[in-house]
Amino acid sequence: METPASAEADHYDVLVVDDQPMIIEAVRRSLVVDSKARIHGCSSALDALDRAIELRPAVILQDLTMPDVNGLDLVSSYRLEPSLADSSIVVLSATQDPQVKADSFARGAADYIEKLPPVTEFVARVQHHAQASRASATRNALMRALDEANQRLREVNENLVVEIGAQRQKVEMLAAVGSNLASIQDLEVLLGTILDGAAKFSGATAGAVFIAEGDELKPSTVYSAGASRVSKSSAKRVRFGEGTVVGEVAASGSALRVDHVAPSTSQRQLAMDETLPAHPQSFLALPIALGSKVLGVLVLCDANDDDGFSTEDERLLRHFAGLVAVALQRAQAARSLMFRMVAMATLRDPTETSGHVLRVAGVSEILYSAWAKTHSISTTARVGDRDRLRFAAILHDVGKVDTPDAILKKPGKLDDTERSRMQLHAEIGAGLFSGIQSDLDEAASEVAHSHHERWDGSGYPRGLRGKEIPIFARIVAVADVYDALGSRRAYKEPWPRDRIEKVFREEAGKHFDPELAAILLDNIEEVESVRDAYNESDSASN
Ligand code: C2E
Ligand code: SIN
Ligand code: SIN
Ligand code: FE
Ligand code: FE
Repeated sequence: METPASAEADHYDVLVVDDQPMIIEAVRRSLVVDSKARIHGCSSALDALDRAIELRPAVILQDLTMPDVNGLDLVSSYRLEPSLADSSIVVLSATQDPQVKADSFARGAADYIEKLPPVTEFVARVQHHAQASRASATRNALMRALDEANQRLREVNENLVVEIGAQRQKVEMLAAVGSNLASIQDLEVLLGTILDGAAKFSGATAGAVFIAEGDELKPSTVYSAGASRVSKSSAKRVRFGEGTVVGEVAASGSALRVDHVAPSTSQRQLAMDETLPAHPQSFLALPIALGSKVLGVLVLCDANDDDGFSTEDERLLRHFAGLVAVALQRAQAARSLMFRMVAMATLRDPTETSGHVLRVAGVSEILYSAWAKTHSISTTARVGDRDRLRFAAILHDVGKVDTPDAILKKPGKLDDTERSRMQLHAEIGAGLFSGIQSDLDEAASEVAHSHHERWDGSGYPRGLRGKEIPIFARIVAVADVYDALGSRRAYKEPWPRDRIEKVFREEAGKHFDPELAAILLDNIEEVESVRDAYNESDSASN
């Protein structure tokens, strides 16, 4: 489903701007050891900016002393050019003057290399800047997609409010759910909120959201007994158009409303979900569609009115399903971008797939729910918190994109140099989110930055202690270590449960927030079941 980041990252372009063809040639020869680097030379300062804009290279190596144009002015011109925002500018100069170096950095150069260093150092530095450029491009793509989707969602919301302005109270309720959706990025939280809103709004006592996956529909979220929850991953799927309510609504793209279900209707024909009533009195099944593309089906069962769902309910809920479709598309876009960021960090390590981050997210959620109960966090705040926490937990290690493979994949213990290099992933991860305008990036940045801090102040990168460490980071620290200990890594075998529990008993108040360590131990059964739900084969397709 997802394009592997490794494929996208196969090649990168390097533009060498130097009036001496010899230097361009020397750079080309040095970088020959990196088959991913494509070297382009430009020996005329007057052409350099145009060449750069045309090529949008990952790295620009810029000479300082050139005829016609001062190299420092070129650095400034690159930095002022929006299409080069993701390019890393590196000054390559014979000058050792500290003032010139300072000027270069002040004008936005990412590095200053005296020409030419030993090949291995040179290659490593160019590769480092190519990776930084890729991280920046991913971050900017994520920002743009979220902005566009948020904009679409706002438009749909406004249309909804205008069109059905007459039915005040219900409209207000819909708008409230709608504007709530605009701030939710996590698919599972989003669907839960949608279903809750739709069920309460129509007085239904049960319901489900099915999501299209290929030619099947997967029950994703179910509502019963006044609350919605995520379906089991083993829940039965329904085929498009196979003579079932859900399948037919998906295939035809039209709603189906039955006010009095005939007693002879078989369970197979209804085929809704194991958790829904086998013989509902009434139901309303609505396509969740964008244009002719069906993304899913929303089913509501057993309106509390004896005559089933009203026409008015149906009309409003159709608008609601349209709103859901846009929100769903946005969530899927955000999700796919998140996974791309996650993939950048995890695909490189064959022992660690996106399973790790999904499990860390799942376990973090359990810890948070228990914690929130004893810290008087309102229900509304909890929904938003849960969403931000999931997003942040999924991205906690995204800074590893910058960690060399030789370290991440090392089968044995890291030496001191490797360990310090690896520990940079916390700060690099936090840096990846700078500039993203949403309520999610703050949490993600916080968690990426502080998930290796320790309660007693002995962690990294800043040595924060106790409640100086943001609560989300304290939670993810527990979930991350719990999952790392129970998993196979390039450098270790999975640990048995009693050995893992011992770590949390002994490290409470040292490595971990003692309250959270206790919550983990008290909820160990539930935590284990989450881990099993996101086993590797399940999550690899995410
Ligand atoms: P990770 O594998 O996801 O581990 C996350 C955290 O779980 C570690 O943070 C550490 O606090 C804990 N942890 C994992 N395995 C063990 C273990 O065998 N014993 C103990 N006591 N704790 C463990 P840390 O140490 O800051 O490491 C962060 C990341 O750095 C790790 O993520 C892994 O990707 C890498 N790493 C750490 N140590 C090594 C190593 O010895 N060899 C290799 N190849 N990578 C390592
Ligand atoms: C997401 O929806 O935020 C991705 C993780 C998941 O739902 O499994
Ligand atoms: C950051 O410092 O960049 C993120 C927030 C924090 O942990 O203070
Ligand atoms: Fe980490
Ligand atoms: Fe981790």
